[in-house]
Amino acid sequence: MRNIDVAAGSRTILSNINLKIGYRELHVLVGPNGSGKTSLLNAVVGIKPYEVVNGRVFLMGEDVTRDPPHVKARKGVVLAYQLPPAVKGVVAGRFAEELARRFEVKKSYVDMLSEILEVGRLMDRYLFDKMSGGERKRLETFLTLLTKPKIALLDEPDSGVDVDSLNTISSALKAVLDFGTSILLVTHSLHMIKLLRDYVNTIHIVYGGTLLMSGLYDEIVPLVEKHGFSGLALRFSRGGTP
Ligand SMILES: Nc1ncnc2c1ncn2[C@@H]1O[C@H](COP(=O)(O)OP(=O)(O)O)[C@@H](O)[C@H]1O
Ligand SMILES: [Mg+2]
Repeated sequence: MRNIDVAAGSRTILSNINLKIGYRELHVLVGPNGSGKTSLLNAVVGIKPYEVVNGRVFLMGEDVTRDPPHVKARKGVVLAYQLPPAVKGVVAGRFAEELARRFEVKKSYVDMLSEILEVGRLMDRYLFDKMSGGERKRLETFLTLLTKPKIALLDEPDSGVDVDSLNTISSALKAVLDFGTSILLVTHSLHMIKLLRDYVNTIHIVYGGTLLMSGLYDEIVPLVEKHGFSGLALRFSRGGTP
């Protein structure tokens, strides 16, 4: 993402976002509620009303800024929703099969993910219909990673899930990183970041409409734990070093 500004309709939400995520890298995006994390992921993928109004999005050197979501998905950029909608009438297992077929993913890969994420029991259900928080997030993570994307943008896979599902989802992320997928993870869960510690390349803090700071796990996590986001922002705005 090069010098990206994000808007929803006439409202500018983020300015001057720069992020470079390498092969098999895991980057974590944190920040308070309403700071624009969901807007950024949606704009990058191209989901209305969110839009990249300035700057460019590149995938392996190719400018994909204006590609619609389904074209980006084909090229390997996929998004897992913060709140996946229920889709009555579409059976999860059939949908997963169709995805695997269209994206030419081997059954062994699908089975591995299904086992880690424990979604076997959900395959005869309608997509996300009447599912618990954990089931919903495990299924959304499964369907997203199933396409073997080059990069997965994951919007709070931790929200509303219990500790067991958090462990499960973290294991799945590690597995696909090992298989060559890069990840941009939005999370509120320090616990999840800790579970992924050995895999985390960079943590970015979004605050006040832009990226406040980026750094290694050992640089960022203690600062966030000590000062909170607003405390950090205050220190920055005074021109001091945190
Ligand atoms: N469709 C929209 N139209 C106008 N403003 C929006 C829209 N969606 C989100 N916003 C605003 O943009 C800001 C960032 O929201 P969001 O990206 O959901 O934050 P986060 O995911 O970090 O909690 C918030 O102030 C929110 O009210
Ligand atoms: Mg959000």
